[in-house]
Amino acid sequence: METYEQIFEKYKAAFETALADYLSKVSFKPDVLNESFRYSLQIGGKRLRPVLMFACARMLGGKEQDVAPFAVALELIHTYSLVHDDLPGMDNDDFRRGQPSNHKKFGEGQAILAGDALLNEAYALCFQESRRGRTYLNAAEQICLNAGARGMIAGQAADLYYQGNASAGKTETDYIVRNKTGKMIVSAVTVPAYVYGMDENIVSLLAEYGKNLGYLFQITDDMLDVNGDFEKLGKSVGKDERENKLSYVRLYGMEECRSLAGYYCGLCEKVLDQLPFETGFLADTARFVLNREY
Ligand code: IPE
Ligand code: IPE
Ligand code: MG
Ligand code: MG
Ligand code: MG
Repeated sequence: METYEQIFEKYKAAFETALADYLSKVSFKPDVLNESFRYSLQIGGKRLRPVLMFACARMLGGKEQDVAPFAVALELIHTYSLVHDDLPGMDNDDFRRGQPSNHKKFGEGQAILAGDALLNEAYALCFQESRRGRTYLNAAEQICLNAGARGMIAGQAADLYYQGNASAGKTETDYIVRNKTGKMIVSAVTVPAYVYGMDENIVSLLAEYGKNLGYLFQITDDMLDVNGDFEKLGKSVGKDERENKLSYVRLYGMEECRSLAGYYCGLCEKVLDQLPFETGFLADTARFVLNREY
């Protein structure tokens, strides 16, 4: 029997093929745009969101190919969010995915444009897929809504807004995380359900799983910012405290974060129990996120 890691690597390899296929079809001018666009995509990353999307496609009886352009689009958007997140005007981080951040390599202006390009190419992929029919259009719309001003961008705006605000608490932190981290994960797990035209109940259970996995993911991200290893993470540590970020660690401390992470992992498992599918990989993913070191 295949281990969780082997299945993860199989989906990841399928995604790398889809990404390489997309990249082989595009080329931008000037060269600096072509390079900065590819750089942050190709230096690494766990590919958790595409892997989740492929796993959900399989779980629902389909295959990776059915959603591959959406998986590429989502990873393009995720990568743009990291390029912009690292900018001096945001988190001011010099390292990402084990390499200098995009703006450290290409300069701030080009990094802003690389992010913009990643986002707009993602939309081009979404439009292209929408031509396949109404269910694909619905999936594309979800990606767009969850990434935008009602999703990830709202979370990032709130993250910056509450930075250094001593009176902000649980409500604000949950809002930030539900949006900046949760919504992109919700897209990853719901897009296949939209594509296959599954009923609303299935979509909302998957969205609920994605939301809880998002909380869990950010709790462990905030904890790794305190006790993580730069070599394994590929990004700087200790930044949240130095920059006065409204993180779960600041709110609850490490000990309580550990049990809160366990709580959200349990919520993920509980939602999965209500789905009439083989949800083993999704449950293992929650446990992977709970115990991750990178
Ligand atoms: C980092 O996401 C940003 C957060 C939502 C905390 P990942 O930890 O998935 O980053 P990569 O894609 O593996 O680099
Ligand atoms: C960022 O959260 C989430 C995004 C939408 C990019 P963080 O700022 O905590 O992510 P890292 O720690 O820089 O990866
Ligand atoms: Mg940030
Ligand atoms: Mg950051
Ligand atoms: Mg972080």
